[in-house]
Amino acid sequence: MGQGQSATGSAGHRLGWTEEGVPVSLLHEDPYFSRSGGLQETTHVFLDGNDLPARFRPGFHIAEIGFGTGLNLLAAWALFRTAGIPGRLRYTGFEAAPLGAADIARALAPFPALAPYLPPLLAAAEGGSWRIEAPDLEARVIPGDVRDTLPRWQGKADAWFLDGFAPARNPDAWEPALMAEVARHTVPGGSFATYSAAGAVRRALGAAGFAVARAPGFAGKRHMSRGALRLCAGAAGGAV
Ligand SMILES: C[S@@+](CC[C@H](N)C(=O)[O-])C[C@H]1O[C@@H](n2cnc3c(N)ncnc32)[C@H](O)[C@@H]1O
Repeated sequence: MGQGQSATGSAGHRLGWTEEGVPVSLLHEDPYFSRSGGLQETTHVFLDGNDLPARFRPGFHIAEIGFGTGLNLLAAWALFRTAGIPGRLRYTGFEAAPLGAADIARALAPFPALAPYLPPLLAAAEGGSWRIEAPDLEARVIPGDVRDTLPRWQGKADAWFLDGFAPARNPDAWEPALMAEVARHTVPGGSFATYSAAGAVRRALGAAGFAVARAPGFAGKRHMSRGALRLCAGAAGGAV
């Protein structure tokens, strides 16, 4: 864990803070985003990794395992707006332990480009609704362990952000059965991206029905993974 951390008391959480101002899970001993630049990491791994903004269209649906601070949501929303896509971006975040508004505000303060998008997120966190309705965004966070909540989810995503801490530190968020649920909740040809290049994760996503590719990682990480749901039948994830 980083230096300069200080525990704070977001409900149900034990958070530390690195000297760069990045929140760290004391349970998983892993930061919520890269200490080398959270927004650049989001852009490289999750946005570029899902070919965004090129694939955006009205109603495009992003789903995320590990909503955390909402950094990925705000970055995707800003990109959708900047790209001038008509209609709304849809975004569903799955989160076991939603953060409080004060911790979210502290974590996202170093990203002034996202400041215009922050107040609705803070209001959703403060009010406990975890829903944001804006002219160009329809977002919600589904609380609970994603292994319980995703199988019951009725939606399908065009793109997945797989961001549940490093698999070695939190294997729960990367189980093969969960990766099969990710595939089952992906439109044909839909995509995923993650910073992880762990063999077990790649095999689970491949078995679930994704064509998995390696790509250059962010900030000193050799590789990350990205992929698209195969359009052929026969995959465990039910791709058609
Ligand atoms: C790396 S952080 C996510 C960072 C986040 N995407 C952001 O933009 O700030 C990982 C998140 O996954 C959540 N998480 C871990 N295991 C989970 C599980 N089994 N179900 C749901 N959420 C989980 C953690 O609570 C944490 O918020």
